[in-house]
Amino acid sequence: MLYLKNLVYHPPATATPILKGINLELAPQQLGLIIGPSGSGKSTLLEILAGLAEPTKGSIAWGGEELTYLDLQELGGIVFQFPERHFCGKTVLEELRLGHPELGVTRIKETLTEVGLEQISFDTDCNQLSGGQQRRLALAVQLIRQPNLLLLDEPTAGLDWSMRRQLAKLLGKLKTHWTLLVVTHDPGELKNIADRCWAIEQGNVKQF
Ligand SMILES: Nc1ncnc2c1ncn2[C@@H]1O[C@H](COP(=O)(O)OP(=O)(O)OP(=O)(O)O)[C@@H](O)[C@H]1O
Ligand SMILES: [Mg+2]
Repeated sequence: MLYLKNLVYHPPATATPILKGINLELAPQQLGLIIGPSGSGKSTLLEILAGLAEPTKGSIAWGGEELTYLDLQELGGIVFQFPERHFCGKTVLEELRLGHPELGVTRIKETLTEVGLEQISFDTDCNQLSGGQQRRLALAVQLIRQPNLLLLDEPTAGLDWSMRRQLAKLLGKLKTHWTLLVVTHDPGELKNIADRCWAIEQGNVKQF
């Protein structure tokens, strides 16, 4: 279970806090969806949950234990908005092995299968993949580390209608193994696969 208790983020440079006391709970193998307009604090919240920024106040717990931001870096796998812009490997294999050169072929094949890319050969150039395939690869890059919590920032942004539907279907399938927290300004088909929904507005989160 993921527990956020009174999470506040107020960097010195801003007049008001960016996150203003967020409380939420998400059970394992559920998909939580946080919906809010641009500038409401969605990406900031995910960055904190991924251990990339330290909250000013409040706590984050998983399985009853409070986590430091180093724990969070291990627990969470974050897929940024437009992840294909940040691919560093030339081929699919290179991208999946970045930082984990020891990963065996079996694990790589399993992960590609999990995201529906089993037909892709390892030496495919990342830039030759379709937009939808690139999103799947970005998911695989995180899943291969086997994080407990998968954090997704606007996963369907910039995809056409049919790819959005396919991606939502994949996320719905992934939650049978993983716990997912998705943030978006445009929920569309993601609403159908969400177990919990919250609205975020100016750094405040409300369940609906
Ligand atoms: N490091 C920072 N220092 C100062 N202000 C910041 C910092 N990071 C984000 N902000 C501000 O915090 C607010 C929330 O930003 P954030 O990127 O989390 O919003 P968002 O909901 O993800 O928006 P979008 O939908 O456009 O991606 C914005 O007003 C932004 O200008
Ligand atoms: Mg954002």
